[in-house]
Amino acid sequence: MCGIVGYIGEKEAFPIIVNGLKRLEYRGYDSAGVALFNGTLTNYKKKGKVADLEHAVVNKNLSGTIGIGHTRWATHGEPSDDNAHPHSSMNGIFSIVHNGIIENYARLKNDLIKHGYSFQSETDTEVLANLIEFFYNQDESMTSEGAVQLALSKVVGAYGIAVLCKKENDKIVVARKGSPLVVGLGNGEYFIASDASPIVEFTSQVIYLNDEDIAILQKDGFTLKNVQNNPVSLKVSNLDLEIGELDKGDYEYFMLKEIYEQPKTIEETFRGRLKSDYSEIVLGGLMNVFPKIEAAQRIIIIGCGTSWHAALIAEYMMEEYARVPVEVEYASEFRYRKPVINSNDVVILISQSGETADTLAALHLAKEKGATVIGICNVVGSTLARETDAGVYTHAGVEIGVASTKAFTAQVTVLTMIALKLARRKGTIDPEEYKALVKELAAIPEKGRAILEGNEHIKRIAEKYYEAVNALYLGRGYLFPVALEGALKLKEISYVHAEGYAAGEMKHGPIALVDDNLPVVVVAPQDDYYEKVVSNIQEIKARKGNVIAIVTEGDTGLKELANDVIEIPKSHPAVAPLLSVIPLQLLAYHIALLKGCNVDQPRNLAKSVTVE
Ligand code: F6R
Repeated sequence: MCGIVGYIGEKEAFPIIVNGLKRLEYRGYDSAGVALFNGTLTNYKKKGKVADLEHAVVNKNLSGTIGIGHTRWATHGEPSDDNAHPHSSMNGIFSIVHNGIIENYARLKNDLIKHGYSFQSETDTEVLANLIEFFYNQDESMTSEGAVQLALSKVVGAYGIAVLCKKENDKIVVARKGSPLVVGLGNGEYFIASDASPIVEFTSQVIYLNDEDIAILQKDGFTLKNVQNNPVSLKVSNLDLEIGELDKGDYEYFMLKEIYEQPKTIEETFRGRLKSDYSEIVLGGLMNVFPKIEAAQRIIIIGCGTSWHAALIAEYMMEEYARVPVEVEYASEFRYRKPVINSNDVVILISQSGETADTLAALHLAKEKGATVIGICNVVGSTLARETDAGVYTHAGVEIGVASTKAFTAQVTVLTMIALKLARRKGTIDPEEYKALVKELAAIPEKGRAILEGNEHIKRIAEKYYEAVNALYLGRGYLFPVALEGALKLKEISYVHAEGYAAGEMKHGPIALVDDNLPVVVVAPQDDYYEKVVSNIQEIKARKGNVIAIVTEGDTGLKELANDVIEIPKSHPAVAPLLSVIPLQLLAYHIALLKGCNVDQPRNLAKSVTVE
């Protein structure tokens, strides 16, 4: 949440920062701003998108080779010009951009007010700006980085910050704790950003800052230390990111592009990991921890939102095939509910971004209790990837649409591989069934392509139902989490109230919602539950509900019964979620478009939830 970009070098900073902020807009789009050394230290900021900022600064003096910028997801204070970052300290000595939350800001603010400070905004960030200035003014020999260190030592909470000091106009000071920051190393120039996407066209050499690191960037050099003023060793990483991945290409929205990419991204996820004769799954990242996974009395899988839905699918699969008890937890609950965690537990944390605050807190708790912690993550170099004992990258490529699509199917692909490999090692799966399932997984991309060819048909269904104000999604077994995911997709991008339920639960409450205005999306391929799901559909039809059924190709029975059907190719039930979720993503997409919503940047959301 919130994106930070900074530049120091010989080039004009403003265009680099603004282009970078556009790439980070998925992290928040309530307001945007830039601070520049342009003879003096000036902040330009505006409520709205980065494009609104660009319009607001036409004819301004934007010349300068050092600057910082921010795109905001509001935490403290509504979206407004005043609350937009950068924030200046009271005497204008500092400008600062911040991602995170200063939890003790109210107490710090009161202390500063007692020292004569006043405030222009409702933000916690302005408190930090003034605290830095307060320490800077305490001692004539104080440097800006010294003041930043002192201020941060008083702060409780999370931060990724970039700071400019008017009196030291040759440097940017950056620091992180809990909120990601990457430093790009150029030739006589440095870049900073919340993730690597603003940096990729300039350099492939980056340093991912660790918690409590402070970096002082100057044109001719760069120093890294920590908040306690101890030197920190540098670890330079190579970026594995193509600039083309950051483009929409011919698609109207990133979300549609990402939905269409799924056959390819699923292939990328299992590339090099499935033996061509389907006899083996190779997961190099887990090689050393597999004995522990095998020995685990219990596996706990943790995530938020869509990643949590992927975890639910894994629970079904690991229990069915690897015969190990699995618990699935919301990270936000797990971290606070004093869970029982043993050192022989294996905890799998799933996060597309690898930066979700609750998931990272759950990771730290599990680690503290001695569990083996494994990450499943899409963003290379993210905090989750760096702090887990072992892990598997999903290799879905950059996901920019705020609503997760290809990252979800990549997560499910990884979890399927882990579950099958575990089952094989434990001997709890018949070798022939194992092989057949691996083969089924390998066939998913082709079948996914066939589903995408039905996009126009799905669009026509969306046209029938887009004015509905509520929707119900039902599924059983492996497809119950898919129903939850379908409902989440619809509500987050179209603002239609949608509920996902296990179909068997329908009679225990949700059936009361059914009337002739309610679209009910039922995931009903021909599997072991088929007859039961057909009965559920009968019950909905008897109450005049409108059923949109996701069915196996050639299913004539449901064609008769349901109002609309979307066919998907036949597959093994354990891999069916990877197929059946695709029409639900497309349905949500078309409904949102018909309602005039911005599907890539839905209101109130941000892609990377770095505050709890
Ligand atoms: C929904 C969505 C969110 C994320 C959740 C976790 O489409 O994208 O529900 O799944 O915020 O994010 P990660 O996976 O980055 O931890």
